[in-house]
Amino acid sequence: MQEEARRFYIETLGCQMNIYDSEIISAMLLADGYILADGPADADLILLNTCSVRDRAERKALSMAAQFASLRKERPGLIIGIIGCMAQRLGEKLTEGGNIDLVVGTDCYDYFTELLRRLEIRGGPVVETSCNFVSNYTLRPETYSSIKAFVSIMRGCNNFCSYCIVPYVRGRERSKEHEAILAEINNLAGLGVKEVTLLGQNVNSYEDGNVDFAGLLAMVNDVDLIERVRFTTSHPKDLTDDLIFAMRDLDRVCEHLHLPIQSGNDRILQAMSRGYTLAEYRSRHDFARAQVPNLAVTTDVMVGFPSETDAEYEDTLAAFRDLRFDAAFMFRYSVREGTRAADLGDDVAEEVKIERLKRLIALQNDITDSRKQELLGRTVEVLVEEPSAKEPGYMLGRTRENWLAKIPSKGVRQGSKVNAEVTSVTRWMLTCAGVQGKAEA
Ligand code: SAH
Ligand code: SF4
Ligand code: F3S
Repeated sequence: MQEEARRFYIETLGCQMNIYDSEIISAMLLADGYILADGPADADLILLNTCSVRDRAERKALSMAAQFASLRKERPGLIIGIIGCMAQRLGEKLTEGGNIDLVVGTDCYDYFTELLRRLEIRGGPVVETSCNFVSNYTLRPETYSSIKAFVSIMRGCNNFCSYCIVPYVRGRERSKEHEAILAEINNLAGLGVKEVTLLGQNVNSYEDGNVDFAGLLAMVNDVDLIERVRFTTSHPKDLTDDLIFAMRDLDRVCEHLHLPIQSGNDRILQAMSRGYTLAEYRSRHDFARAQVPNLAVTTDVMVGFPSETDAEYEDTLAAFRDLRFDAAFMFRYSVREGTRAADLGDDVAEEVKIERLKRLIALQNDITDSRKQELLGRTVEVLVEEPSAKEPGYMLGRTRENWLAKIPSKGVRQGSKVNAEVTSVTRWMLTCAGVQGKAEA
């Protein structure tokens, strides 16, 4: 009798890097004879890909792991694995409660199926986090069905911003060879992918021999069938004029720049080891907006960094009023053990952090709203992604600036690019009128 294929389910927390890594593991498991489960309840193997960037992210992962473990009552042989940044950070410790069979760190995925086999043969738990941060996975899923894909172009980070755990759980920065990246993107193009987002913690420092990031963008811009190219994250200290010119001049590179500011105060920026002052940030930001018409700029920021005073926090508010970001990811500082900022203590009271964050979010919401108002009447290019689940008769897609947009379905098909006029806006959605003609492919 033929043995029934084992089913796997992967839950992914954290950033796009983790989404990419989950796809790599999926591809490995599919190649190994596993099939995709409909959900956690019918899986034989559940993997949780985790994030360590803030304490909350880790607590969420632990509670999800406990929930998954409770499914064992129904499925006694169920294997539960933790992968990703928290697996790398905590290793062995994660197995202490007896819920976890497998822990695989961020750089050991090349051995993933062997580690699973070890678990099956010798029993668990199996913990592997000791790989030495050299791998640069290039494996791709064989059956990619989406029209958008992430492509990691580098791994790790060398910046060691004082608050950040990423360099510790992802290792030193290493760039993938440009030939491998282009092969990967060509493969995706053949599978119907129209938009790629190039990923790295700091894509601006990409370097492969004499190919820098602007050079890589030019090569990706030339891949047939790929219609849009995005990238994230840019570090303000490494954002070169050449890169800004590349954004301006390369037709498929979209007009969206994610440029984390982190704080609007120079003393705090220095304590964070960010490597720029507010004036330097502003000059990069202004130059990019001046060179690239209709550029959307988004950012990351945190409040309550150790010793941040009210006045220093006010500087962040002032910077936000001044720079008018199109959108922002806003966080409360969270101490990460082992980082340099952890030695500074965590002296901004939690209520103060909460209050500071609340005011900043309210300010940014107003700015996001007014930025959206400015789009009324403009013609935008929408890459049509899928029918709207909430509103029959509409398709959803994104503009080049990465705004979510809905458009009447009539005459548009999934995967096509259309030009349409913005007729109404809410904070997170543009409504567009019927198609005004096909955008150029
Ligand atoms: N490489 C990117 C960001 C990676 S982490 C960059 O350089 O900007 C994503 C965001 O999480 C960061 O931009 C920062 O705003 C936030 N973050 C990182 N560490 C944090 C911490 N300890 N507490 C709160 N937010 C943090
Ligand atoms: Fe963390 Fe700074 Fe590296 Fe971004 S650049 S991942 S914030 S250390
Ligand atoms: Fe989190 Fe790891 Fe990304 S810590 S933000 S998942 S690199």
